[in-house]
Parts: sequence; C-alpha cells; structure tokens
Amino acid sequence: MSIADTPPRLDEDINRREVPALKTHSMVLGHDGADLFAAGVADMDFKAPRVVLQALQQRLDHGVFGYETVPCGLMPALTAWLEARHGWAVNKAHILRAPNVLNSLAIAASLFADDGDGVIVQPPVFFDFYDILQENNRRLIVNPLILQDGHYTMDFDGLEVLAAAPRTKILYLCNPHNPVGRVWTQPELRRLGDICARHNVLVVSDEIHGDITFSGHKYTPFASLGASYADNAITCLSPAKSFNIAACCAAFTVISNDARRAAFQVENSRLTVNKNNAFASVAMEAAYSSGGPWLAHVLDYLEDNLALARAALENISGVELIEPDGTFLLWLDLRELGLAPDDLTAFLRKKAGWAVTRGQAFGPEGQGFARLNIACTKAKLEAALAQLAIAVDHKSR
Ligand SMILES: Cc1ncc(COP(=O)(O)O)c(C=O)c1O
Repeated sequence: MSIADTPPRLDEDINRREVPALKTHSMVLGHDGADLFAAGVADMDFKAPRVVLQALQQRLDHGVFGYETVPCGLMPALTAWLEARHGWAVNKAHILRAPNVLNSLAIAASLFADDGDGVIVQPPVFFDFYDILQENNRRLIVNPLILQDGHYTMDFDGLEVLAAAPRTKILYLCNPHNPVGRVWTQPELRRLGDICARHNVLVVSDEIHGDITFSGHKYTPFASLGASYADNAITCLSPAKSFNIAACCAAFTVISNDARRAAFQVENSRLTVNKNNAFASVAMEAAYSSGGPWLAHVLDYLEDNLALARAALENISGVELIEPDGTFLLWLDLRELGLAPDDLTAFLRKKAGWAVTRGQAFGPEGQGFARLNIACTKAKLEAALAQLAIAVDHKSR
C-alpha cells in the first residue's frame, strides 16, 4: 500500500494545545475555557495527509530556504484536481497564488468596488465577510437566505432588486455556504449568476469548502457553469479546509477575465502578496496531487459523525439540526429553547461545556442558532452530544 493510500488515524486524540491552535486559545475559549468542547473554529482536529507531511519533511531536509519561483508541479496539481474532481477545466494562466482566501476577498472588494459601493452578502453567512467589507469601506447589502421547513434557499426576488441598485457592484457568494451547509445546485447558481450579469454585479465566490460534500450532493464551481459565468467571476479557493492545512497559508484565485486578472495581479504586487511561503507551495502541491485518498477517508468519517449527531439531536427537544449538504459545520436551530442570544451562548458554555460559534456572529439572522464543528474524533463528539442532552434535560425540568 502506498503512503497515499494508508488509512489515516482519525480517531487519534491529538492535543491541539501543544501548538498555538486558535481553536483552543483563550482568545476563543476564554481564560476559564480549558475544559470546554472546542468546536468553534472551522478547522479539523485531524492530522494532515501523510503525503503532505512527507513532502514538508523532504523540503525541510533540503535545508536551504532562499528565494524561489513557483514549483513546476503546483499549477498542474491544482488544475488536475479541479478538473478530475469537479469537472472544471481551468487554464493555469488564470490562476493567481494567494496567502489565504480572505486576502483575495478583500482585494476583490477594494479593486472592483469604490468607497461606499455596495456588496451583497446572504446571511447568515461567514462572519469575516462583514469585517472585510467594513474595513474596506464597502457598503454591506444583505439579502438574507430564506429558511423554510429546515431548509435554506436564496431569495432571488430580493437579489434582483438589490442587484439592480446603481451602486451595487459585487456579490460575495459562499459556495458551499458557511454556516448553513448548503451546497448550491447548478440551477440555483445559474439563477444567481444571471441576475448578477443582468445588473453588472461581479460574483466573488468563496469556494473554500467545495471539496467537503455529503453523499448525494455535488459542488459546482460557479465559474464552471460556462464562459459567461466565468467571465463575471472571481473564485477564491484553498486546500486549507479540505486537507486541514489552514496554518500553511496557501490559497489561489481563479480569474478568467483578462482585464480583472491583470488588475488583481498589479494589486498583488503593489501589496507584495504575490508570493507563497516555500512550505505553503509544497503542502498545497502534495495535497492536491496525492491527498485524494486521505480526503475520501475524512469524508466517510464526517458522514459518520453527521449520522451520529443527527441521531443524538433527534432525541433532544428544542434543538433542530439544519440538514447540511456539505462542510464539516453543523448549523443548529436552538430557538425553541427560548433563550436570548447571550443567554444561549452562556447556556451552551456553562451547562453543556460547548464552545461553539454563536449564531449571531453570522448576522442577526443567526440569533438563536449555533455552529457546531464535527471534524473531531467520534469520541469527543459523542461526549459533547451527551452533555448537551443532559443540559437541555435539566433546563426543561
Ligand atoms: C467560507 C470561508 N471562507 C474563508 C475562510 C478563511 O479562509 P482563509 O484562512 O484561507 O483566509 C473560512 C474559514 O473558516 C471560511 O469558512
């Protein structure tokens, strides 16, 4: 069996406190949070694929870390992954390297909209979208998702009206959508793309969670829908979630429109963010070229964890699982517990021992909800769910 095919030990309990992991840091857990179930930050508790560790070790052993160019295997690894896995044929000349996805989102907002111009987001949505827009002085335009019978959809009528406003310049698409777990379907993406094209609104698509989908759901890169969609898109991608290498700070941006790509490139060099750390490039290439078997194991494990969570939550009244299509983040509807947002966070923390991301961080639409990360060992998840069951049971007495 090759090293790529050796099954990873996903049940291994790895002490994340041995490194300055954000998930277990007091910044996230608070100073008294050492015993909490740390399920807030969106990374996995699993070791990166062996093929990635081995490639990093080899690079380390080389011992010289002088200036470098782009490794010749990197772009072919990226394009082969996108084509084989997602049916998206990307011209490698359209790929720009980036330190992380947020950086690309910020550059897109600052380049392709002016001060005070509007950027549409569809809450509840990844909280950093809000910070980026505020820090770049772009006007937040919200088109909340519609929640009906436990299922989120986009409000296309609302989108049409908001996109038509003269100073609306960009839409931040989250595909798949953090935190509600929707993997947008092709008809949904086409409809969104057509509205944006009609009103000259650029689609900046954050597709960092694209590789993580559950059975029966297929991620479609927005720009793969066709040339006209690609021409109106900036796609922000990264191996950070798929291979649990966020701290390597490796990402890339796909821009097929020549003028926009040229502008992005100029901005990248103006800000001198047009290089990657040697380890970032090595990790990214190894992950995309040989990490597929590892990811298959992880997806199976996540599917099992989802089943485990679903079964446990069915027996906890007042807590509804929003069934996810993908991502390792579960969106829990806790509104029936009848707690005010801050009281809910305190309840989860003090009574259930959970440090999850509070729903209101994703916009006011997230009040009464919480985001639970299930990319941890089964044992940890089981214990946490049992704690929640006890806490809710005590509360209702
Ligand atoms: C939707 C989404 N985009 C971007 C990021 C952050 O990506 P990066 O670390 O590459 O900036 C996250 C991390 O949680 C995310 O969930």
